[in-house]
Order: sequence, then C-alpha cells, then structure tokens
Amino acid sequence: MKGYYHIITYGCQMNEHDSERLAGQLRELGYSYIDDYTKADIILLNTCCVRENAELKVFGKVGELKSLKRENPELIIGIAGCMMQQETVVEELMRKYPHVDLIFGTHNIHQLGNLINRVLEKHQRVVDIWDEWKELIPELPSERKSPFQAWVSIILGCNNFCTYCIVPYVRGRERSRPMEEIVNEVQRLVADGVIEITLLGQNVNSYGKDFTEQQIDFADLLQELDKIEGLERIRYMTSHPRDFSDKLIETIRDTRKVCEHFHLPVQSGSTRIMKKMNRGYTQNAYLELIQKIRREVPNSSITTDFIVGFPGESEEDFAETLKLVDLVGFDAAYTFIYSQRTGTPAAEYKEQVPDEVKKERLQRLMDLQAEKSLQQNLKLMNQVVEVLVEGESKSNSNRFQGRTRTNKLVLFDKGNKDLTGKLVDVQVNKVQSWNLYGEMV
Ligand code: SAH
Ligand code: SF4
Ligand code: F3S
Repeated sequence: MKGYYHIITYGCQMNEHDSERLAGQLRELGYSYIDDYTKADIILLNTCCVRENAELKVFGKVGELKSLKRENPELIIGIAGCMMQQETVVEELMRKYPHVDLIFGTHNIHQLGNLINRVLEKHQRVVDIWDEWKELIPELPSERKSPFQAWVSIILGCNNFCTYCIVPYVRGRERSRPMEEIVNEVQRLVADGVIEITLLGQNVNSYGKDFTEQQIDFADLLQELDKIEGLERIRYMTSHPRDFSDKLIETIRDTRKVCEHFHLPVQSGSTRIMKKMNRGYTQNAYLELIQKIRREVPNSSITTDFIVGFPGESEEDFAETLKLVDLVGFDAAYTFIYSQRTGTPAAEYKEQVPDEVKKERLQRLMDLQAEKSLQQNLKLMNQVVEVLVEGESKSNSNRFQGRTRTNKLVLFDKGNKDLTGKLVDVQVNKVQSWNLYGEMV
C-alpha cells in the first residue's frame, strides 16, 4: 500500500460520481481510503461553483488544509471539479494558496494517475485544465458507496445556457456516451449486485442529439435498459421540461423499471422570468406537461427546483411562482436564492433583487411548499408502498429507511439488517412533509 487518500466532494450527483471514479483510480494506484482526512497522504477536493456559498466553502477548506501541509510536507493536496474550470479561481488559488500541489478540471478526471505521478516526480505544483473534452471519459474503476445502487453517466456537459447558470461554462458542450457502452456498463453493474441505477446528465433528455450516425434518443435508451434482467429500478436526473417529449412520457408509462418520479426543474412560475432565464417554456406549457404526466402515469411524484430573486423578479412575478406551486402540488421542491455567477448573462443585469427581499420570498415559498408536500403525502396514508431498503435509520437503529419508487424517504419498523438492498412492502401509518413512516408488511 502506498498510503491513504480522502476526497471531499461538493455539488451535485455528477460530482459525487466523478469522486467515485477518482477514488477508483487512487485505489488502483495503491492508496486506501481513510475517513479522517488529517491522516491522509492525498487529499482531493472536488469542487462546485453553481452558487457563491459553494465556492466560499471550498476556499475555507483550502485555507484550513494549510496547517496539515506544514506538519506534513509530503502530503499531496489536489483540487478538482467545476470551480477549477474558471481561470480567475485558478489564478487566485495559485496566488494565495501555495500549499496546493495539484489543480485539474472536469474534463481530465481520467488522468489522475498521471497527474499524481507528475506531482511526485517534479516536486512542484501541477496545473492541468482542459477547456473542452479532448476525448470521452473512458469507463473508469469506481469506488461505489452502495453495493446495490449506482450512478451511470449518459451525457456530459450542457448546451442550454440558462442565463443564471455557470454549468455550461465549466462542464463543456453536450456529449452523449454510445448506447452500447452504457448498456454494457449497466449489465456489469447488475452482475455485481446493483438493482437500482440513476442515469446522470445535466439534461438527460438531450441524450443522443449529438449522434451523427445513429438516431437514438433518451426514450430508446430507457427501453433498452428496461430489458436488463435483474435490474429493478431506473432513475435519471436531470430532465429539462422543454425537452420532455410525449414519446418519453409513454416510455416511462410502458416500461416496468423506470420509476414514477419526475424531477422537472421549473425555476420560476412567471412566464416573463422564465423567458429572461432562457428556459424555453411558459407557465402554460409547463402546466400542460404536468397534466399529461398525471394522466399517463398516475400516482407519479413530481418534484422541482426554484430560484427566487432572479434579476428583475417583481412581487407579481413571485406571486406567479406561488400560484404555480399551488396549482401543481409538487411533492417536493429544492429552493435556491439567486446567486450572481461571473461570466453568466444574468450577473450583468441591472435590476438585482436585494438580499432581504430574496430571503423573505424564499421563506414564503418554503412555507407554502411544506404545506403542499404534506398534502401530497397524506394521500399515501394507510397505503402499501414498495421500498428499497437502504439500511438502519440514522437516528434510531431499531428503525430502517429506504425510498419508494417515487423517491420518498420512508422510515419503518419491523425490518431487519438483512433486508438492506432488498425491496420490501411498507404500510404507511404516519406522514410528514419530508418523510413517510410505516411498518413492514
Ligand atoms: N441541469 C439541471 C440542474 C442544474 S444545477 C437543470 O437544468 O435543472 C441545479 C439547480 O441549481 C438548478 O436547477 C437551479 O435551480 C440552481 N441554480 C443554478 N444556477 C443558480 C444560480 N446562479 N443561483 C441560484 N441557483 C442556481
Ligand atoms: Fe444550468 Fe440550464 Fe444547463 Fe441546467 S439546463 S445545467 S440550469 S444551463
Ligand atoms: Fe456544481 Fe458542477 Fe454540479 S457547478 S452543481 S458540481 S455540475
């Protein structure tokens, strides 16, 4: 064994999945995982820049690592991920944080072995950032957290350029992975004991649009994956409401394994703001989509993301957001305060909303959503739901937890440890806004 590694991950599932593959490469190089990072020989930070507070956390952590490096000059500190795709951030790191040994980005995670060797040989800082994909990231050894659940990347990058969002600038243009490669990967995962996969991409329903020789779309991919024996559940994230075709809804209706959960980030309820965000739909179009989904896939859950305080958002615009929440009855919503991202068009807009207004609107939105989530969950009282058992509940070891096909967290009694990774039926006997409670039947 060469030593210990620890990876700290910020941001979304795509980063979590990248970290699994960074870990896989470190394992192959002869390093073992250690929980306590102060004892590690390699510390990697996999960073996110979607909102300012994500970046502030990273700078805080890098500063904190300085004393570890002083105590142990052999320690390798590496920083990767979305933040590193911004030149200004890299310049600041180089200037203010000389204790960082390695800086790389989102497009060359598969070169980690090479990068570490360069650090070890040169005894000086290595910076290697690629502006775009030079090659598709090959399948990499992975260190999965769960034996029965896995992430599978299907499309990289984003071409949408929503005016608030930094992701297209740091994750590059859309590149779909060949379907055979994805199917083979899932088959191998299933042979290894995986029963639930989550397909990953910033906009999964763009899948295949960049193929020149084949005509394959996301629905076709779902149909192929549905045929894989032994696989029980297929999830995906994130899908864009603009590209959610009828064919896709019908495919989800007609396949057994694709879960009845629709995460459709709407961002705002106001058509005027949707337009300024470059989202490509209107309030009406969104509501029609929701109706179609409810008609074709009854008992599905629908969740969303909101940004409050986008530049120029008036009280009337915000009222449209509350109206949409009321009309749709989302099962859950992730709500964010708008954060100005340098380099994006919206950061330059003049009418920035004051912080106090943003905070106050966020609170009103969260309060309304909590009520709506509770209403949705009350519909499940006394019903029997299928739960994939994830293990003991974190707060009470006599209780177990897992998720429904609709992605709701269920805490239940009368389970046991051996059921981890299995599907069980649970009768719901209590509900709250964010959890269901019940008993195994
Ligand atoms: N590709 C996905 C998710 C992108 S990032 C999508 O299109 O929905 C996840 C969420 O972060 C977004 O849905 C959005 O709600 C939020 N987000 C992105 N940029 C933001 C910003 N500048 N300020 C606040 N929230 C932001
Ligand atoms: Fe960002 Fe929009 Fe792309 Fe999502 S679809 S990653 S919000 S630009
Ligand atoms: Fe953050 Fe990058 Fe994901 S900016 S949200 S980690 S794609």
